Amino acid sequence: MDIEIVRNRFIKHFDGTTGSVYASPGRINLIGEHTDYNGGFVFPGAIDKGMIAEIKPNGTQKVLAYSIDLKDFVEFGLEEKDAPKASWAKYIFGVCREMIKRGVKVEGFNTAFSGDVPLGAGMSSSAALESTYAFALNDLFGENKIDKFELAKVGQATEHNYVGVNCGIMDQFASVFGKAGSLIRLDCRSLEYKYFPFNPIGYKLVLLDSVVKHELASSAYNKRRQSCETVVAALQKKHPHIEFLRDADMKMLAEVKDQVNAEDYMRAEYVIEEIQRVLDVCDALEKGDYETVGKKMYETHHGLSKLYEVSCEELDFLNDIAKKNGVTGSRVMGGGFGGCTINLVKDNLYDTFIADAKESFNAKFGHDPKVYDVVVSDGSRKLL
Ligand code: GLA
Repeated sequence: MDIEIVRNRFIKHFDGTTGSVYASPGRINLIGEHTDYNGGFVFPGAIDKGMIAEIKPNGTQKVLAYSIDLKDFVEFGLEEKDAPKASWAKYIFGVCREMIKRGVKVEGFNTAFSGDVPLGAGMSSSAALESTYAFALNDLFGENKIDKFELAKVGQATEHNYVGVNCGIMDQFASVFGKAGSLIRLDCRSLEYKYFPFNPIGYKLVLLDSVVKHELASSAYNKRRQSCETVVAALQKKHPHIEFLRDADMKMLAEVKDQVNAEDYMRAEYVIEEIQRVLDVCDALEKGDYETVGKKMYETHHGLSKLYEVSCEELDFLNDIAKKNGVTGSRVMGGGFGGCTINLVKDNLYDTFIADAKESFNAKFGHDPKVYDVVVSDGSRKLL
C-alpha cells in the first residue's frame, strides 16, 4: 500500500488540494470457512495488504471517484436511482447508501483509491474497499457515531444489496477489527470475539495463490448458502429452536437425511464439522499444539473439496504438494472457486516447499503460483 501514490494522484486528478486518507486491510482466515453465515465461528486476522483512499468533501451531492489501479473515473449521485454501472464503483456507492440508511448525512466528495490486495485471491479486497469507505464516511460525515460492528455490517449490507453476494460478516469484521499480531475468534451468532496472539515460533504462515478465479463464483457462493438454509428449514420441523446450522449436530442432521437432497446434506455435514474444528484449533493454539492445528486445516480442505465442493483442480494440487512436503497444515482459504491455499509450514521446510510448489505447479498449469508471506496487521484506520 503506497500512500504517496494515492496522494499524488488525488492532487493531480482533482483541484490540487488534499483531503483525509484512510486505510483498511484484506484478511486471512486460519480456519472456519463458510461458517459465518451459519452462525458459527471463524478465526481471521487482518493482513498487511489493503486499500488506501483519499477523500475530501466537495460541497455538492456528487461523488467523483477515481480508481488509480484501473485508471477509471466515475461520477455518481447519492440517491438510490444513481447507482453507477462500473462494478468497482458499486462498492463505494453501496457504502454511501448504507451509511445514509443508518442516519449519516453523507454529502458529495472527491476520492481516489488504490490497493494491493490481489483481486480474486480470497483475501477480501472488496471488504477492504468497503471498510475503508465506511470508516471514512463515519469520520467525515457521521461524527464517528456508528460503532465498529455497524461499520462491518455496512460493508456486508453493501455486498447483499448492491453487489449481489449474500456473504457473512467475517471479511468486513476482520478488516475493521484487525489487530497486529493477533487472530480473532468471532462467534458469528453472538458477535462475541476474542483476540489470540499468533506468533507460532518455528513456523511460517504462507499463502500460495493459484491465480485462478472461476466465473460465477458469487452465484455458486449464494447457492451454498441456500443449501444451508434449506437444511435448517428441514431441521426446524422437529427442532424449532434451530436458527442456524450452528444449533444442530450430526445426530439431528441424520434425522433429516431422507428429507433433503444428497447435495444439501453434504453441505450441512461440512458446516457442522467445520464449526467444531474452529473451537478445536483455538484449544490447540492455546496449548501451542501446532500439529493439531495443521491436522484440522487438512480436514477443512478435504471438507471444502469433497463435501462443500468449493475447491478446484489447482487448489487440490497445491494442497497435495503441501502434504507431500510435510507441511503442517494446508487448505483452500476464503470463499473458494479459485484463489489461495493457506499453509502452516515449519521454518526448515519452507524453502523446499515453495520451490517444489512453484516447479510442480508450473509444470502442470503453465504458470507459477504467487507466494505471499502473511503479516497479521491492524484494521481500519485514518492515516492522514
Ligand atoms: C467469503 C465471504 C465470507 C465467508 C467466506 C467463506 O469470503 O465474504 O463471508 O463466508 O467467503 O468462509
